[in-house]
Amino acid sequence: MEVPHHIAIIMDGNGRWARKRGLPRTAGHREGIKRVKEITKEAKRLGVKILTIFAFSTENWSRPKKELSFLFSSLENFLESYKKELIREDIRLVMIGRRDRINPEIIKKIEETERETARNKSFMLVIALDYGGRWDIVEATKKIMRDYENKKFKLEELSEDVVSAYLSLRSIPDPDLLIRTSGEQRMSNFLLWNLAYAEFYFPQVSWPDFKKEELRKALQTFAQRERRFGSL
Ligand code: IPE
Ligand code: IPE
Ligand code: MG
Repeated sequence: MEVPHHIAIIMDGNGRWARKRGLPRTAGHREGIKRVKEITKEAKRLGVKILTIFAFSTENWSRPKKELSFLFSSLENFLESYKKELIREDIRLVMIGRRDRINPEIIKKIEETERETARNKSFMLVIALDYGGRWDIVEATKKIMRDYENKKFKLEELSEDVVSAYLSLRSIPDPDLLIRTSGEQRMSNFLLWNLAYAEFYFPQVSWPDFKKEELRKALQTFAQRERRFGSL
């Protein structure tokens, strides 16, 4: 069975999962965080090499303050409780997204974990935090223009590969499969450039219910897709 090298996931539906059970939205986020560790482990076991998860979008700042503070304190706990396992499992952690609006204490913890796992090779977990696909493209454009002004390359040399290298995922190969849980069928400003040829998969289950078996189903569906890349 062909296994995707890189999977991207829009982890959606935490709030709805909680509401259905008469619980506060935070209970859904708490359960969702458990799935991150579980799905990472299972993806690695199944032969996937890179997992990019959308944890917080540039638009998510418009949520109520209480939910924001819950999300970021959960993230802090997640990092603290997960670091040892990342090291033991040889998993590299990378964050993509804006680093200028998140509490500097949290950024410090993220960067510590990035440094301590930088040489890990078996698997890569990319967390998209305060990430937006449009932001990514604008940032890349600014850097490209700066380097052009500094004569780092000629205009004719600007190619798709060069632009890719300026984006957050840099040299990381494009996702082969995008999963968005909870039945919503939209990209919500995720990896706009990098998802150009990804296969899309939209299971009905919400993220807290996306357990190992659901990942296996997603991979089975992916294996049946015929990828053409514009060819015949
Ligand atoms: C995804 O679940 C988690 C984040 C966006 C942080 P939601 O919080 O969007 O849950 P729903 O979509 O309201 O159910
Ligand atoms: C997308 O989910 C962002 C993340 C999962 C982090 P949202 O719940 O924010 O997206 P919309 O608002 O339904 O498009
Ligand atoms: Mg949502």
